[in-house]
Amino acid sequence: MRKVTSKILFIIILNTILVQALTAQTKTINQKVDSVLSLMTLDEKIGQLNQYNDDWTATGPVTLDKDKRGQIQHGQVGSLLNCMGTERTRSWQKIAMQSRLKIPLLFGQDVIHGFKTTFPIPLAESCSWDLDAIELSARIAATEASASGIHWTFAPMVDICRDPRWGRVMEGAGEDTYLGSKIAYARVKGFQGDKLGELNSVMACAKHFAAYGAAVGGRDYNSVDMSDRQLWETYLPPFKATVDAHIATFMTSFNDLNGVPSTANKYLLTDILKNKWGFDGFVVSDWGAVGEMIEHGNVKNGYEAAQAAINAGCDMDMESRDYKNNLEQLVKDNKVSITRIDDAVRRILRKKFELGLFADPFRFCNADREQMELNNPNHPIAARNIARESIVLLKNQHHLLPLSKDTKTIAFIGPLVKAVKQNKGFWDVEVPGTDSSFIVSQWQGLENKVGNKTKLLYAKGCDIDGNNRNGFAEAVKVAKQADVVILSIGERRDLSGEAKSRSNINIPGVQEELLKALLATGKPVVVLINAGRPLVFDFTADNAPAILYTWWLGSEAGNAIADVLFGDYNPSAKLTMTFPLSVGQIPIYYNHFNTGRPAKNDNDRDYKSAYIDLSIYPRYEFGYGLSYTTFQYSKLQLNKKKIKSGEQLEASATITNTGNYDGEEIVQLYLHDLVSSIVRPVMELKDFRKIKLKAGESKTITFVIDKEKLSFFNQQLQWVAEPGEFELMIGASSRDIRLKDRFELVE
Ligand code: NOJ
Repeated sequence: MRKVTSKILFIIILNTILVQALTAQTKTINQKVDSVLSLMTLDEKIGQLNQYNDDWTATGPVTLDKDKRGQIQHGQVGSLLNCMGTERTRSWQKIAMQSRLKIPLLFGQDVIHGFKTTFPIPLAESCSWDLDAIELSARIAATEASASGIHWTFAPMVDICRDPRWGRVMEGAGEDTYLGSKIAYARVKGFQGDKLGELNSVMACAKHFAAYGAAVGGRDYNSVDMSDRQLWETYLPPFKATVDAHIATFMTSFNDLNGVPSTANKYLLTDILKNKWGFDGFVVSDWGAVGEMIEHGNVKNGYEAAQAAINAGCDMDMESRDYKNNLEQLVKDNKVSITRIDDAVRRILRKKFELGLFADPFRFCNADREQMELNNPNHPIAARNIARESIVLLKNQHHLLPLSKDTKTIAFIGPLVKAVKQNKGFWDVEVPGTDSSFIVSQWQGLENKVGNKTKLLYAKGCDIDGNNRNGFAEAVKVAKQADVVILSIGERRDLSGEAKSRSNINIPGVQEELLKALLATGKPVVVLINAGRPLVFDFTADNAPAILYTWWLGSEAGNAIADVLFGDYNPSAKLTMTFPLSVGQIPIYYNHFNTGRPAKNDNDRDYKSAYIDLSIYPRYEFGYGLSYTTFQYSKLQLNKKKIKSGEQLEASATITNTGNYDGEEIVQLYLHDLVSSIVRPVMELKDFRKIKLKAGESKTITFVIDKEKLSFFNQQLQWVAEPGEFELMIGASSRDIRLKDRFELVE
């Protein structure tokens, strides 16, 4: 007993020492920040709030500055973006070191899904539901980027989105808030590592704050008008998750929210983010967004724009020059307080200290480390693993897949078969000094996979877009010589991403016509759909016997696709966004309200919440995805039927692999609050498990349900769990619920 007590005492003392040490460390940084601040002129302070683009990769109008170099020498620039490579970052940093106070520059970059090693686009990765693999992909991206001089990535994008017309869905984690929050947390952990200041950590940036994914009509940069309840319940939680993960920075969004552009939205930036959530990092505007408020129409000129943005809590101005041109006058005119300027500067300097840049401004500019990390042989292995985990098997009639490795002749047809860079998707990074040879094309992947026994034939068939059918005859000829046809079609990689909203989300050009011609040969056709968003592909969905949704998988695309085609990896991914039947259903999402007149099915239309000319059901629902094996769900057991507020309920179920292949299943837990003071969604994802099961194997999993999982924002925006009955559903997708029960929350 005495031994136990002294052990506890020892732990308490150790903890106290650790806490004191940590506080001392923070204090030291804060003190250092204050002493630098005390030496700074107003001009130098404003300089820290100013971020310029280097000379390439602009994603908005660049205000060409004849004297960027001179301004850096005079301490008038705090950060550069789109500047990478140890050589280039070192040369800019050297110029910053000529400034009076030698405050180091921060180098920021959009490292969205990998740096040199490109990982699947974030939406694809989210379909893996594999939080460890997602964290690892961000970790590797950070390792490569930081070795190449980068201190800061503008990722993760955590915007929830229910509209596939919006091209930026490719950057996020789909439509669900619960899953999106888990992924947001994992990505921040991956980018930032154990702590800032490690050589392989970069600052992460949660963007775009807030509600950008709800842009009206799916049109990029468009307005957002939404209730506070929806904002808090659906759109803010992933941002909050990044704060919980100690994220270093936030980026404002381009949209206005209920009439106030986010960049000048005090409610978002100060009241919620900095005050309520206690975020101690800094906020950067999106590209030019401070100046764009003139176009929004809430300010008259750059002077008013800078005033509105800084006073709302936006600390750094990306590329609009409005802070640089107006803040001094605004301070003189008492429109902006020096306290606010100091707070913004402090936030930025603190991060520069945490990164260790004051101690050594060149610590991320080691050319040997850069070479080593950009060629690290473990990185492609990780990229291949998550790429195959991201591929969604949508259809597999008569077990056409996996293909036999003894197949004699395979015709690999389509405009994306031999494409190289397309596989990287939008927001890849053009790392200086690298060519495309490290990207494994789909053709190369297949060649790597099959032995001499299999003959591979190729025909392009058609382009991604346009209506040229001249290649059809050759494609049909090639298909006729094969035992199996694989057709690779989809979007161009730059049809999704920023400013890539589409009103028509069909597969472009004559690609589906090519499929029709190939099906007419009578050969079995496996279709690969490459895209950055959910597409509409009626003909393919109805007629192709097998479909793999391959998104954009990055550098290892070819190998990952081949692994899945031949069963070296059994597909396990599940969709994180609903695939509509038609654009007319958008926005369509699984966690909708019931309405007062819900349609029971597609025959129940009369004066019901339905379309008279279209189904109410999507093509593929949230959570959907097949495997080469089958899983049976059984033995749902709730350890109690009533729980009190502080208690937990355990729901367990047994999952059995009933097919012939080893495989992984993503088991999903949904809850429905049956009666509450305000309307609740018909179901909400509240937990999930990704489990591996050998053929024939069973595992029992247990979900723990507590008050948090039962809570929601009531009319007063209080986070409450109301007593009453809940439905609990466990399933393989949001429409494939296998087990159900009810329980009650009692006072
Ligand atoms: C504009 C985009 O909206 C944002 O996501 C990106 O980080 C910046 N440009 C910088 O490239």
